[in-house]
Amino acid sequence: MNKKILVTGGTGYIGSHTAVELQNCGYEVLIVDNLANSNENIVSQIEKITGIRPGFTQLDLCDRQATLDYFQKHSDISGVIHFAAYKAVGESTEKPLMYYQNNLGSLTNMMEAMASIGCKHLVFSSSCTVYGQPAELPVSEKAPVKKAMSPYGNTKQISEEIIFDQCLAGNLEAISLRYFNPIGAHETALIGELPIGVPNNLVPFITQTAIGKREMLQVFGDDYNTPDGTCIRDYIHVVDLAKAHIVALERLSGENNLERFEIFNLGTGIGYSVLDIILTFEGVNGVKLNYRIAPRRPGDVEKVWADTTKANEVLGWKAELGLEAMLRSAWKWEKFLQNKEI
Ligand code: NAD
Ligand code: WQD
Repeated sequence: MNKKILVTGGTGYIGSHTAVELQNCGYEVLIVDNLANSNENIVSQIEKITGIRPGFTQLDLCDRQATLDYFQKHSDISGVIHFAAYKAVGESTEKPLMYYQNNLGSLTNMMEAMASIGCKHLVFSSSCTVYGQPAELPVSEKAPVKKAMSPYGNTKQISEEIIFDQCLAGNLEAISLRYFNPIGAHETALIGELPIGVPNNLVPFITQTAIGKREMLQVFGDDYNTPDGTCIRDYIHVVDLAKAHIVALERLSGENNLERFEIFNLGTGIGYSVLDIILTFEGVNGVKLNYRIAPRRPGDVEKVWADTTKANEVLGWKAELGLEAMLRSAWKWEKFLQNKEI
């Protein structure tokens, strides 16, 4: 019988891509999501790609009893990949309690429910935001966690601490994956990122500008201490990222983890500037982008990219897709959205 994996937040951007990769690897996928930032139609989109419909339940993980009941009903879940969270950095500074309640409440309820059925394997979505502006680049997992610059970032730091304590108590074995900047979409363009309202992130803003939904992209600052003056990030293809979750799960189920709580950076190890992204997007897709240089965005780190040695050598995962594939797929997805309602 196939192993049953629960994907929380599985109708979201990274969760939906991971559900596809899990099914491609023969896992049975269950999704729970409260649809706060996604759409139930994504379940059908996943089915269109893989030919298999994942089990879907609309569930708010902040509802403790409903979460416990769900796990009782599915007591054969062998592992959980926990994506469910709010993720808008700006919103988190305006509504900090909403972020602490949702991101931490859902996590603790979910771990209590896991323990209630004896499910011990957890893969957690963390973020490179925990490093702030690192003193050394590339940034390795040994770099200190800096004071968070937003309540959102703080929820990731606190979540890692809560998971660590639960592991220490002997109730859990977990892997925290610190994502750098996930972009792009599935090659079929049947799933991708669905920003609600005006996108905060660079690539959705670029694709929406190129298609005409936004008038102009603002490049936030060209006076940073970088070769072209714009900020540098480590962009990673969402499909590469999705695949890493399966490698992490298999590390736990194969008992190959060296500690009960492990942390891995997920990036390509290559840093690109904002102008690199714009020029590559224009080049690979044959479109002109309307952009102008604007003032710095408060809170932005200047440059960050991953030391991927631990992910490559210990986890045994390496990003395979390059920037051109990322930006080609992002554009294909935006064009798909122009023609279809999701
Ligand atoms: P997303 O918003 O597309 O997906 C998250 C999903 O979780 C959504 O479908 C939302 O409806 C659901 N959700 C939120 N609160 C819930 C709750 N209480 N109960 C049930 N479902 C709930 O975001 P994403 O980009 O796919 O991110 C997935 C995870 O990765 C998040 O934890 C995010 O913080 C983390 N992450 C994302 C990025 C990024 O740039 N996208 C970078 C680093 C880390
Ligand atoms: C990338 C670069 C901007 C928009 C955020 C979160 C972080 C993590 C990933 C979850 C920066 C520049 C952007 C625009 C621009 N998420 N930019 N014009 O800031 O690295 O990280 O997403 O954990 O926590 O903070 O990503 O895509 O917003 O920005 O010039 O309209 O693009 O200044 O240099 P960021 P981003």
